[in-house]
Amino acid sequence: MKSLVAYSSLTGNTKAVAEAVAKGLGEGASLVPVKEAPAPEGFDLVVVGFYVDKGKADADSLRYLEGLKGRKAAFLFTLGAYPDSPHADKVEEGTRELLAKGGNEVLGCFRSQGKVDPGLIEVMKKKLGPDHPHAQMTEERKALLEEASKHPDSEDIKRAEEFGVGLLSRDAWKPLRPGPPPGNRPQTGLGAPGGARAVPRGATESLCRRRRDGEPVPQTARRIERRRRNGALRRT
Ligand SMILES: Cc1cc2nc3c(=O)[nH]c(=O)nc-3n(C[C@H](O)[C@H](O)[C@H](O)COP(=O)(O)O)c2cc1C
Repeated sequence: MKSLVAYSSLTGNTKAVAEAVAKGLGEGASLVPVKEAPAPEGFDLVVVGFYVDKGKADADSLRYLEGLKGRKAAFLFTLGAYPDSPHADKVEEGTRELLAKGGNEVLGCFRSQGKVDPGLIEVMKKKLGPDHPHAQMTEERKALLEEASKHPDSEDIKRAEEFGVGLLSRDAWKPLRPGPPPGNRPQTGLGAPGGARAVPRGATESLCRRRRDGEPVPQTARRIERRRRNGALRRT
């Protein structure tokens, strides 16, 4: 399978995650900065990697995402906020909507927290004024930035590579047909061996599953974990 991983990265976080996804995708993967990315038509799968800039994909990646039409696609992003936060959910939802609008089929999404450039933190403090929530160094915000400063870590990179491997073997490559009811379907991709946290703080993956009518359903790691706890899904 010929795949393209086109990424945008200012300080290296997204680049590192994109490299890992490309590694997982194997020999057929081309890894290129999104600004130099070729036309997507020659690829079976296009993966776009972006950093979050003011709640959405950075401008270069956004342009590329907008240009994707009728492709099999996946995306990854890094952000300062927690990857399982509502903020990250919104980024994923917005990107999925954009891709769906272009008639693309989204095979999955991978998120990782990424260290925030200290220069940016200073600029925000000056620019936004003391009353703005992003300018205030609350304990909560300190903890967030402290956690972000550790990512992407080796666990995030490992999971990103697994995400790439998973894209190769994903059911999405097979022709669509109605499957068994959701409760009976095995879930793949997020099993954490040895009692480790099934949903890591640093990185989460959404799997694209299908409803019986064939519509893809994004499953965030948190939702998957909740369903597992409720006994609706078996751990694999
Ligand atoms: C201009 C700018 C805007 C940003 N906006 C957001 C944001 O809205 N939400 C967020 O969680 N992180 C935001 N960040 C943090 C980055 O998304 C995060 O640090 C990312 O991992 C950087 O990736 P990179 O190293 O590939 O450039 C922003 C960073 C920059 C430079």
